[in-house]
Amino acid sequence: MLNFSFKNPTRIHFGEGQIAAISKEIPLDARVLLVYGGGSIKGNGVYQQVSDALTEHTWFEFSGIEPNPTYDTLMKAQEIIKTENIDYLLAVGGGSVVDGAKFIAAAALYEGDDAWDILAKQQAVTKALPIGAILTLPATGSESNGNAVVTRDGNKLPFKSPLLCPLFAVLDPNVTLSLSDRQISNGVVDAFIHTIEQYLTYSVNGKVQDRFSEGLMQTLIEEGPKALLPETKKNLEVRANIMWSATMALNGLIGAGVPQDWSTHMIGHELTGAFGIDHARTLSIVLPAVMKVRKEQKREKLLQYAARVWQITDGEDNARIDQAIRLTEEFFETMQVPTRLSHVDLGSKDIDLLIERLEQHGMTALGENDDITLAISREILSQAL
Ligand code: NZQ
Ligand code: ZN
Repeated sequence: MLNFSFKNPTRIHFGEGQIAAISKEIPLDARVLLVYGGGSIKGNGVYQQVSDALTEHTWFEFSGIEPNPTYDTLMKAQEIIKTENIDYLLAVGGGSVVDGAKFIAAAALYEGDDAWDILAKQQAVTKALPIGAILTLPATGSESNGNAVVTRDGNKLPFKSPLLCPLFAVLDPNVTLSLSDRQISNGVVDAFIHTIEQYLTYSVNGKVQDRFSEGLMQTLIEEGPKALLPETKKNLEVRANIMWSATMALNGLIGAGVPQDWSTHMIGHELTGAFGIDHARTLSIVLPAVMKVRKEQKREKLLQYAARVWQITDGEDNARIDQAIRLTEEFFETMQVPTRLSHVDLGSKDIDLLIERLEQHGMTALGENDDITLAISREILSQAL
């Protein structure tokens, strides 16, 4: 196992009715900015629950954070932060809103000329407003990690800081009942691929991390399809298991002390930045191709994945690996997400632009061994056609 230091500071309030807990979590003297997206929280009663919980607090609101949040939208929040002396952010929404709140929190106290440098030049975040989160879409893990992804002019870039970890996160599976099938699918697949990015590398004998990861993947394989079937889609136990899996997949626990890949995500970000494809749908296209192209480098873990996640124990090594990749693709198909570039109307003519963008963003040595060059990314994208 590799050395690691691990701390996750986010207090989780899980379950029905837990939105009320924010009244005690947020200090009474705070000047709170509630940030949210396009308005789903007004249709499903979450906004009402938040206002009921904040009757004693002084609060303002900023809305309109879009999926794959943009720099331009997020910078607009700075005005109200200044005029109302905001000192606490409450993010209510999916990963885009929580990520957006993180950028707003860092930009508010940024001392350089342009807060975009936090992403473009990876300038360190040294101060940030405190953030609390009410999660409405289980997927990204953003509610209990310090990561965020922001887009400017088609450039979708990640940044991170421990200062951006939400202080608390409310996870009420009830609020996920208003999600569309598409968003449920996206969430399950995103969480599954977060797990695999931290698992499918090379072995360092991290038995705890491996078995946690295998448990999360098996849970998502079991429960994900149920959230799409008419007879089980409203089942709160199904929703609860998906929600907790997604948080656990990217709160730092399973990735501590093990190598991590993230090439699928970095290539996927270019697909969203260039063509606007939903985050998870870029991943379901790229991951099977990464598994095929990196079969030799990932051989040992692929065999472990085949045996422990898919119970494939018979046959010759290559056949077991191929079957595990096939079952992964079938799982994505059951979750109704694309697995090929052609499924989203892209083809070989589009690969040059993606490679150019990867180069422009410094994504030239990806993967657990920093050895996925642009040439290998091209091979992966060609494999995904
Ligand atoms: O904006 P509203 O009206 O709220 O609607 C949203 C949005 O249209 C809707 N929605 C959310 N909760 C709902 C709901 N609709 C009905 N009922 C509810 N309960 O869903 C739509 C998509 O929301 P979004 O927040 O964009 O989805 P997701 O949570 O998948 O977040 C995706 C973003 O997170 C980033 C992605 O790159 C992408 O920008 N990621 C963040 C990560 C992190 N911080 O650690 C890691 C991930 O790998 C990912 O990169
Ligand atoms: Zn993701």
